[in-house]
Amino acid sequence: MAHDPAIGIHDLSFATTELVLPHTVLAAHNGTDIGKYHRGIGQRSMSVPAADEDIVTMGATAAAPVVARHGTDGIRTVILATESSVDQAKSAGVYVHSLLGLPSATRVVELKQACYGGTAALQFAIGLVRRDPAQRVLVVASDISKYELDSPGEATQGAAAVAMLVGADPALVRIEEPSGVFTADVMDFWRPNYRDTALVDGQESIGAYLLAVEGSWKDYTERGGRTLDEFAAFCYHQPFTRMAHKAHRHLLNHCGYDVDEDRITRDLALTTAYNNVIGNSYTASVYLALAALLDQADDLTGRAIGFLSYGSGSVAEFFAGGVVPGYREHLRTKAHREAIDRRRPVGHARYRELHGHSFPADGGDHRTPAETTGPYRLAALRGHQRVYESLQ
Ligand code: HMG
Repeated sequence: MAHDPAIGIHDLSFATTELVLPHTVLAAHNGTDIGKYHRGIGQRSMSVPAADEDIVTMGATAAAPVVARHGTDGIRTVILATESSVDQAKSAGVYVHSLLGLPSATRVVELKQACYGGTAALQFAIGLVRRDPAQRVLVVASDISKYELDSPGEATQGAAAVAMLVGADPALVRIEEPSGVFTADVMDFWRPNYRDTALVDGQESIGAYLLAVEGSWKDYTERGGRTLDEFAAFCYHQPFTRMAHKAHRHLLNHCGYDVDEDRITRDLALTTAYNNVIGNSYTASVYLALAALLDQADDLTGRAIGFLSYGSGSVAEFFAGGVVPGYREHLRTKAHREAIDRRRPVGHARYRELHGHSFPADGGDHRTPAETTGPYRLAALRGHQRVYESLQ
């Protein structure tokens, strides 16, 4: 009888923005004690998109090195997950497909369920590869997190894209069965179509996240999943990095463990390094946690990693990944550090100006200032159409 191949993440690459706002600057302007940002929510800086960057330019920038390394052969599907979509009809993935020069024999689609969308994309990709193990699926999770200026959420903004090549016999992480899933109809965080910024009930959202951790873990264990002690580390969705600590403490408590800070630090410490300086990247966040873990851990060969993906509204999934022997040869640690270090600090006044930036809905010709030094830019909106440029 044919043996089912292992399926999972074959390559992973991320991109973030041209600009960065340190929390020290935000705190100096709004009078907040910096301890609240650095220790209370666990954030040090946030990525800020330049006027000519968006989820498409970030998504293409993240995916270009993946396509450069593996070629386009075998990629028959692109799934772009986002909750900061640029169009109600056309998938942002089609622009990414075009910027990357992928073959026309590709299906492209956009997925949405708040921050959970990236995991939905990964799981759907696994299903497609299970059907045809010769194909590879390019998953792109790209988001810009935007709250009202001067609101409690402002300090948790950020932006990034993660690109993952999903296939059989993956080089990095095999995604295991079972998954534990959970859905509850709650209004903890949402963004009606007429709004550019999210609406959120902060404390309600933390409670909804914790409930979803419990619910997805319950389903995971009922379906015969691993025990907590089998995991080398846990990658949580990190709207702010202290949320991973809250969630993990909650899970350990729920499972009857004596919870001490050392255990939480041991299980999470390496997963927060990128989110801590990038901010909330919604669909990409849990995979930035994975990138940070793989890039920094000594050796995780053969070890299991727990993933908790949460999307407000709410949907969550707990699942496990097994780290593949030889994975370290395929990491992009240097490029990841460069993506973070290349960001230019943005002044507070320019940050506020960019926050309010949007195209008028008049269908005219609106050019964007050339700000990004990345490989792709959003050059203009012309006749209601977004015009992208490749700068390579
Ligand atoms: P807030 O209400 O202004 O802050 O905003 P706070 O008063 O709760 O303080 C935060 C923490 O800082 C507290 O620690 C304080 O004690 C501490 P905790 O009690 O939580 O452990 N603190 C200090 N620590 C050290 N020195 C000090 C100091 N002062 C205070 N001087 C809130 C916090 C998270 C509510 C806000 O940032 C917010 O609304 N964020 C957006 C919503 C969010 O991120 N929710 C998370 C769960 S929902 C989710 O993850 C989904 C999401 O990603 C969206 C999606 O799925 O698409 C958001």
